Parts: sequence; C-alpha cells; structure tokens
Amino acid sequence: MKTKVQFTEEEKNPLQSIEEWEDDVLIRYPEEAAPARAKEEYRNYENPGRDTVREFYRLNHKYQTYDFVREKQAEFLQFNREEMPVWGAMEFLNTLVDDSDPDIDLDQLQHLLQTAEAIRADGHPDWFVLTGFIHDMGKVLCLFGEPQWAVVGDTFPVGCRHSDKIVYHEFFADNPDSTDPRYNTKYGIYEPNCGLKNVHMSWGHDEYLYQMMKDYLPEEALYMIRYHSFYSQHRENAYDHLLDDHDREMFEWVRKFNPYDLYSKSPKPPVASELKPYYEDLIAKYLPATVCL
Ligand SMILES: [Fe+2]
Ligand SMILES: [Fe+2]
Repeated sequence: MKTKVQFTEEEKNPLQSIEEWEDDVLIRYPEEAAPARAKEEYRNYENPGRDTVREFYRLNHKYQTYDFVREKQAEFLQFNREEMPVWGAMEFLNTLVDDSDPDIDLDQLQHLLQTAEAIRADGHPDWFVLTGFIHDMGKVLCLFGEPQWAVVGDTFPVGCRHSDKIVYHEFFADNPDSTDPRYNTKYGIYEPNCGLKNVHMSWGHDEYLYQMMKDYLPEEALYMIRYHSFYSQHRENAYDHLLDDHDREMFEWVRKFNPYDLYSKSPKPPVASELKPYYEDLIAKYLPATVCL
C-alpha cells in the first residue's frame, strides 16, 4: 500500500493568505479598463514580492499528479465531514481569516457578495447571481487542513501533457507525470475532443464545489463553478484538443463569469446582514436546506 506523503506546514501554506493567488491572477489578467497600474505591476512580476506565489506554484505543479487527484477525489467526494445550511457554510468559510494584510484583504464572504452583486446589477438570471455567491464555497477545503495548492491555484487537466500556457510551466519538470509515458503525451489517457466530462482536472475548490452542486443548478452555472480557475483554457485556449462542441458552447459562460470574479472589488463593501434575506431566498429556490461538506 502506498503511504501518503506528509507535507510540512511550510509546504502546506506557502502563501500568507490564499488571496495572494487571486491577486496574482489579477496581475496576469488585468482589467482592460485599468491598464496603467496593472502594467506597472506586471513589470514587477518577477520581483521578490512574488516569491511566495512562485513557491506556491512550484509545490502545486510538483504534487498535483494524476494519482494525487484521484486520491483527493476518493477522500473528499464522499462529503462525509459536516452537514450545514448553505449560509452556515459561508459563515464557516469566513472563519478562514488571515491577518497578513488586514487593510486591503476582503473576507471570503465579501468577495462572494461583491461578485454576486455585480452579476445582479447587470441584470443576469438569478441562478447566475447565486453562482457568483457560492462559487468559492469549496475553499472550505482549507479548513479541513488541506494544502493551499490543493485548494486554490490555476487548474489544469491531469493525465496528459501540461500545456506551456500554464503559469510557471517550468515547474512541471518536478512532476512525476511529466516523465511517465502514460501521461506525458498530448492526449495522454484521453481521446481527441473527448469532452471535459471525461477529463480529470487538478484538485481544488472548483471541482469539489461542482461535485457538491451538480444536481441543483443549470449546466451553465455548473461550468462556471467547475472551470473558473482553468485559465489556460478560458483565457488561453490551450486545451482545445480535449474540448467537445458542447464544452465550447458552455465555455462562453465561463468567460462571461470570469470578469465578475476578478474585477468586482468595489470600494463600498457589501453589508452582509442587509443582503442576507435576498440570498437566503435564492438559496432556498435552488439548493437543498443543508449541504454536506
Ligand atoms: Fe475561485
Ligand atoms: Fe472567486
């Protein structure tokens, strides 16, 4: 029997907070309306301030193997840890606070409310608003002691060659799958255009929440949840050879969602208590009274 790899605290938590990953995504994909500041930050991309993010990707790319993903699926997709109402799960998620940068960091609930409120302000259907509200709920994985790089970070297919469009691609040299002939060809274990439903993605909050919600939301919503961190596809089209026509259609929704996730930070933080009745109604309309984590 294989013994599970034990990670040190440093290996589990290379980032001061998991928001550092999303701040980094924002530098990579700046909002077009705000290019000046973003370009400036981009020039500093390789500066020492980015070392924690670099270390985060080194660990992510080294350890997210096909076998690791299958183990995490077996471990977490039984949903046998906790049972609670969705709003309660949000409050649980919000216990994940980090005091590294109290001035600028929003708590998790505020990011979710801002994303959802921006979607609502643009007049989108209510299931799209609800998707914005819950899309990062899977980050509760952190509260179960999971390494940061197995909760957040760009996701990518495992079981086939890693695209050089994935950020810090060079770190895949340390991933055993890169030298495994089963997994290191263009298609690996997959067939051309087999559809993403047949593809295993690196493990994280996206897949975990998708599996939790798959019976309750429209398919467009489920694609947004499942693939919102798959930047090498929704921004770079690096895995067109695995997508089928249906994926291509549905990815329009993933692309529609992404700006709300990245660019909805507003100077006026939402007041959770005021918004709670609206979101409780939305939750009750689509989701069961309690969810299992
Ligand atoms: Fe996310
Ligand atoms: Fe998010």
